[in-house]
Amino acid sequence: MLAQIFTLAERPELEQRLDEVADPWPEFIHHDQVLNARWDDLYTRWPEFQLVLVDTETEEVLGKGNTMPVAWDGQVETLTGGVVDVFEREFPNPNVLCAVVAVVDAKQQGRGLSGQIIGGMAETAGRAGLECLIAPVRPTWKDRYPLVPLEDYMRWTRDDGMPFDPWIRLHARLGAELLAVAPRSLDISGSAADWESWTGMHFPQDGDYVVPGALVPVRFEGGVGRYLEPNVWMRHEPR
Ligand SMILES: CC(C)(COP(=O)(O)OP(=O)(O)OC[C@H]1O[C@@H](n2cnc3c(N)ncnc32)[C@H](O)[C@@H]1OP(=O)(O)O)[C@@H](O)C(=O)NCCC(=O)NCCS
Repeated sequence: MLAQIFTLAERPELEQRLDEVADPWPEFIHHDQVLNARWDDLYTRWPEFQLVLVDTETEEVLGKGNTMPVAWDGQVETLTGGVVDVFEREFPNPNVLCAVVAVVDAKQQGRGLSGQIIGGMAETAGRAGLECLIAPVRPTWKDRYPLVPLEDYMRWTRDDGMPFDPWIRLHARLGAELLAVAPRSLDISGSAADWESWTGMHFPQDGDYVVPGALVPVRFEGGVGRYLEPNVWMRHEPR
């Protein structure tokens, strides 16, 4: 395998093949209205910031990474809420690159390919003359601990001192610095019927529910369920 990163500006024909990367997400993740309304902007406005990981020997699409340029003054206090907040805003004078998502196809996971996507994002930031790459990191094991505050979870470490969470660890191993909780990276609301169709669970009364694949509980109030997903802001130097 010879895995190589391309941007969609370099190889526009790859955009048609992104669906070859299996969708890894629980159904509810697809129901953030802001993201759904603005997702295509990534491809129309910033093809040079959309990455595809390709096996150049077989031309197989192995994974993908989405980023967009944003403005940030480098202060932890002024970081936006997360992915959905970034999508809601316009940044007339962007100076940093913001990661949106990275996915390695399920058949290819566990081979160290994700580092190439994140490294490719940092290289893309460097090539574009941007000051750094910031990433609202979605910790891959947080759904196992939905009741633990992310402020605590993100600082859990293993015996070797590395972060406990595999995805935070991957970023840390690539040199990223942990900044803060991103409190609003997804904001998904729906009726009990919506949530039932998304999860196969029942929500007969108001209250907090632990839902498979959710990093924090889904809260029902007045029959409406809201999932406010927190992520972890991390910062990479450009390469
Ligand atoms: C998270 C993801 C990108 C990792 O890609 P990968 O190429 O399989 O990962 P790597 O082989 O580079 O391993 C990176 C770390 O993640 C861990 N890991 C790999 N697959 C994993 C999985 N399915 N779930 C949790 N952790 C996983 C590895 O153990 C490794 O940590 P370690 O070597 O320090 O123990 C990939 O599993 C994926 O696409 N998942 C679904 C989408 C997602 O969660 N994306 C990240 C948030 S946007």
